[in-house]
This record gives sequence, C-alpha cells and structure tokens, in this order.
Amino acid sequence: MARKVIIAGNWKMNNTAPEGSALVEALKPLVAGIDAADIVVCPPFTTLNAVVETACNSNIKVGAQNLHWAESGAFTGEISAAMLKEAGATYVIIGHSERRQYFGETDATVNQRLRAALCSGLIPIVCVGETLEEREGERTDNVLSMQLSGGLAGITASEMADIIIAYEPIWAIGTGKTATPEMAEDTHCFIRGRLIEMFGADLAEKVRIQYGGSMKPENAAELLAQPNIDGGLIGGASLKAASFAALIKNAIG
Ligand code: PGA
Repeated sequence: MARKVIIAGNWKMNNTAPEGSALVEALKPLVAGIDAADIVVCPPFTTLNAVVETACNSNIKVGAQNLHWAESGAFTGEISAAMLKEAGATYVIIGHSERRQYFGETDATVNQRLRAALCSGLIPIVCVGETLEEREGERTDNVLSMQLSGGLAGITASEMADIIIAYEPIWAIGTGKTATPEMAEDTHCFIRGRLIEMFGADLAEKVRIQYGGSMKPENAAELLAQPNIDGGLIGGASLKAASFAALIKNAIG
C-alpha cells in the first residue's frame, strides 16, 4: 500500500513573522521540485500570514498548531478553524503532548477540535503518545488505545480518510532519545491495528502515521524505511532550513 510521505515541521513557540518568512524563503530552493513528500510547516498563529505569503507558489504547505472547536465566542486566547483558514492554513496539529501536558488537553477536547477541523476542511494531524512511565509500566498499548478511541470517537471512515495520526512517544520529544526504528514500527503497527478494528482494513491501510520525537536528518531514513512509518512530525530539526531539507531528502531516499 503506497502512502505518500508527509513531513511536517512543528515550530512550537519559535519564530516571529520575519524569522518564519526567512526560514521558508531559505527552505524553498532546498526542497523545490520534491513531490514524493507532502511538506508542511506549522508556525505560531501570528506567523501564519507571513509564512503563507512566503510559501505561496511553492511545494510547502502551512499548518497551525491548535484550534478551538467553537465557531466564535467568549474563548479568550483561542482561535477558530475559520480564522486559521483565513490566514491560509491547510493543516492543523491537534492534541500535541505539550498541549495535553501543560494546557489540560484531553481526549475529549481533542475530539471536539478534530470535529471543528474536519468541518472546516483543515487537514488534522492528531497526536498520540505515551510517557516514559507508561512505557516502562507496559501500559503503552492501553494508553494509545484510549487516546485513539477517545480522540477519534464518532469519526466516520470517510472522515478518517482525511486524518493523519502522529505517534510521538513523549520521552523522545526534544530529548535526543529516539525510539529505535523497530520499537517505533511495533507501535505504528499497533496503532494501525486499532485503526483496522475501528474503521476497517481498507481505510486503515490508507491512513498516514507520522513518527515524532527527536527525528533528524541522521535517523530519518531508517525510521521511514519501516513499513508503517509514513512520515515525521519534526520539532527541533525543523527550525533550520538546511536540517529540515536534509531530513526530508533522507526520508524519501
Ligand atoms: P522534536 O519535537 O523533534 O524536537 O523532538 C517533536 C514534536 O514535539 O512534535
């Protein structure tokens, strides 16, 4: 089953508008002509407009890092799907572990945000992953099952076709510790197995599952060589054009 590779940069709370534009300006020639991978950058909200403008007429797409589920209203500090669309975003990250850890994100709110993204036509990247304690306590499968069944509750198979899953073991994010390719593949297999149970094999085989957590140019090829690893969600290594471009090239081989 050929699934197109998708490499997305999660800039987190980094890069002002001029800095973000400069990064994408530098990235454009380095990735020009690459069509074997979908290439996405996810800047902070205030940097979206500038980056969308700079990425215009290139193969780089732009995503946001979060959205609120309501269309509008009294939700101080939040941003709606329509606002992200207006800014030119085409993707949105949902339920990143930092949102879960620091901002009280739960599987229920992931589900609400996911519905809002789907309704507006934004392509959701839904993040799941276990802590070190959960892995060491052999609870990884349980935790991922709960995150998938809660986060994807009520989603139809045709909606699932538009959703990307990002598996990010929390202990590997920003730590320099990457899951070994075999360990990541085992977990991706487990996730695909759950998707088969939930949505049927035909659909589940089409869903792209990204790996995230200290992915860099040096380990991208071996991770992407695994049959169930279809891309990457990249933090640190997406903040420099040269390393992000090198990672993309290594990922597609
Ligand atoms: P990292 O972050 O690549 O810096 O580990 C990944 C992420 O949090 O999405």
